[in-house]
Amino acid sequence: MRRIHWVLKPLVFAACLVPALRLGVGALNAAEAWHLGGVSLGADPVKVMLHTCGRWTLNFLMITLCMTPLRELTHWTLWLRLRRMFGLFALFYASLHFSVYLLLDQNAKFGALWQDIVKRPYITLGMLALLLLIPLGLTSTAKAQRRLGKRWIRLHRLVYVIAALGVWHFWWQVKKDIREPLLYVCGLSLLLGYRLWKHRQSRARISVARLARTDGA
Ligand code: HEM
Repeated sequence: MRRIHWVLKPLVFAACLVPALRLGVGALNAAEAWHLGGVSLGADPVKVMLHTCGRWTLNFLMITLCMTPLRELTHWTLWLRLRRMFGLFALFYASLHFSVYLLLDQNAKFGALWQDIVKRPYITLGMLALLLLIPLGLTSTAKAQRRLGKRWIRLHRLVYVIAALGVWHFWWQVKKDIREPLLYVCGLSLLLGYRLWKHRQSRARISVARLARTDGA
């Protein structure tokens, strides 16, 4: 198990970095600062960077939400060891996404950013999702988990809200073809539906146990 931990974690970490590294190489190629063949960001590199980082933020949020069901279905604790890493990668890609938007799309004009936050509802949602993600990242350590106790679990339930805001942010900006955001809506509904079902099951089990106890008394 320890060996898996030492081999698998760095491998997964490296794999999670691939999209960012590809974008980095593509950006250097686009700026003609350096040329490494094979990676091109096309005619509108800023748009490609913005969209790729947005997608990966959402993908990592979904992957993070898959870890608990996978643990429960397979009984492997390995999934939980990877959960924190995936959650932090969601924050990493969300920060990149926001930085590309602010620095390259809006040319670091904070006034324009504020105007967008106020006027474009999908930007308001994205901003809210990013702001909510930050405290989760800051309290992701084992030490914070121990210190916060039950409050940690309650705080980290915010990830459901963040994922819903992220999907909504995506949905709201799509003009015609809703197939891709719809796929995320279905994925998220499944993941949240599973949790609701498990929660109901455990409540039913508690009620049965209470009834049995009162009958016994
Ligand atoms: C957790 C937070 C966020 C998630 C999950 C997220 C996700 C996404 C996704 C999936 C896309 C569409 C990518 C595609 O079409 O392939 C997108 C696009 C975009 N996002 Fe975000 N985003 C987040 C936060 C933000 C923030 C904070 C901002 C800016 C303040 C922002 C601004 C944008 C913009 C401008 C686009 C491109 C819209 C267009 O080209 O029409 N996002 N985002």
